[in-house]
Amino acid sequence: MDKIIIFDTTLRDGEQSPGASLNVYEKVEIAKQLERLNVDIIEAGFPISSPEQFEAVQRISDSVKIVVAALSRAKEIDIKTAYEAIKNAEKKRIHTFSSTSDFHILGKFGDEKYGRSLDEKRKTVLKMSYDAVAYAKTFCNDIEFSAEDAGRTDIVYLSEIIETAIDAGATTVNIPDTTGYTMPSEFGDMIAELKRRVKNISKAIISVHCHNDLGLAVANSISAIQNGARQVECTINGIGERAGNASLEEIVMALSVRKDLFNFKTNIVAKEIYNTSRIVSGFTGIIIQPNKAIVGENAFAHESGIHQDGMLKNRNTYEIMTPESVGAIKTKIVLGRHSGRHGLKARLLELGYNLTEEDVDKAYRRFIEIADKKKEVYDEDLRTLMGDEFFKSDGLYHIEYLQVNAGINLIPTATVRIKMKDEIIQESATGDGPIDAILNAIDRALNIKLKVEDYHVRSVTAGREAMGEVTIRIRNENNSYTGKGVSTDIIEASAKAYIQAINYYKNKIS
Ligand code: KIV
Ligand code: ZN
Repeated sequence: MDKIIIFDTTLRDGEQSPGASLNVYEKVEIAKQLERLNVDIIEAGFPISSPEQFEAVQRISDSVKIVVAALSRAKEIDIKTAYEAIKNAEKKRIHTFSSTSDFHILGKFGDEKYGRSLDEKRKTVLKMSYDAVAYAKTFCNDIEFSAEDAGRTDIVYLSEIIETAIDAGATTVNIPDTTGYTMPSEFGDMIAELKRRVKNISKAIISVHCHNDLGLAVANSISAIQNGARQVECTINGIGERAGNASLEEIVMALSVRKDLFNFKTNIVAKEIYNTSRIVSGFTGIIIQPNKAIVGENAFAHESGIHQDGMLKNRNTYEIMTPESVGAIKTKIVLGRHSGRHGLKARLLELGYNLTEEDVDKAYRRFIEIADKKKEVYDEDLRTLMGDEFFKSDGLYHIEYLQVNAGINLIPTATVRIKMKDEIIQESATGDGPIDAILNAIDRALNIKLKVEDYHVRSVTAGREAMGEVTIRIRNENNSYTGKGVSTDIIEASAKAYIQAINYYKNKIS
């Protein structure tokens, strides 16, 4: 069986999803979980883009043993910075890229630097790509070159640039369908054509990186594999720019469930898929649609009577893989006030959270608060607690006190007291509902006005005592920030979520 290399870009392309807010600690936790999932390569970030990105890539490089890749444009300063960030990693890769389609070359590259005609510009890009790979090669041996928007690039020029990158020392050549434009048969043919045209292609691994604008990212990736690609770039839950990237879990399970059809294997530990999916969703704040293949809440739910009857007789009737095979096991384990610190630590470990003793203490205090309110604490409660606020409590502002009056024939009014270092600010405001009143009171206290783009409440588990999880996305000019709050009281959860989003925003601008 041919091995398919799984290159996970959740922490780079995935993190480019609108509103995905990950701090360094969370990125390191996700990277460790990706290692447990046994991906081959983690693309940890784009170090030149910000000091936080640099630090995250550096910390991930110190924390995992698998290959860590860092992204760079085809510029010396980017490449050097990428290398600086990954230099302590046991195994490292520099990933550099140039745009290759006419849309990009004509649309992004100015005449002065790149030449006036398309032909001149293409030549400049060709040389830049060669130089970038050759320069990267002076730092490490494992170099990936990507031809951005390859999906819409003329095949003759694409072949030329790929051949040039391999000549310069690229060990992996990536063919991204950056805009999610191609059809599976077309993309597969493109890979086959490159194999025919590029003379030195056997010296490099062919990789693909498909976006999901037409919902075809997974189909395109599989078609590429059938035509010779041996690395796929993908993300957990399919998150990423715009409509996202190819979903790791879908590609891996398609290859595994249909091994009668494909002669390919991956090294993925499928039982870790569900935990990884939930950890990524919890930390990024990106909710998984219920009908999402493999990891959605309904992926293994059977609703109609006919289906349920079939399932009772034989699971093969309506299930092509078991929930157990991807770790989506609905456990009956319930923790409560008396479960103790040790019980909590052990259960969190099984859910993929390997905490320091200090963090176990912190989690335990929060767990007791929740157990006091709702008696039975389920796995989903724990995941929500870990994902939503546990690692994010180091923000500038904290809510000390909250009072809300609302009801029929009452003007909703909220009073908040917010702590900021040694300062306490208190304000009241009205609104057209209790949540609006809280948000107005917080805005007034902090003297800000941010657009609320999205507001969601969901019940974490079933039942009257269930915890409510609130997700709020706010926007300031070009950036959006997502905050989450969790409590048995959704009014409190809303205030926490809003403050968390503001903490992210302040963190970015301070
Ligand atoms: O979509 C894309 O083309 C990319 C490249 C940087 C690989 O993300
Ligand atoms: Zn991409």
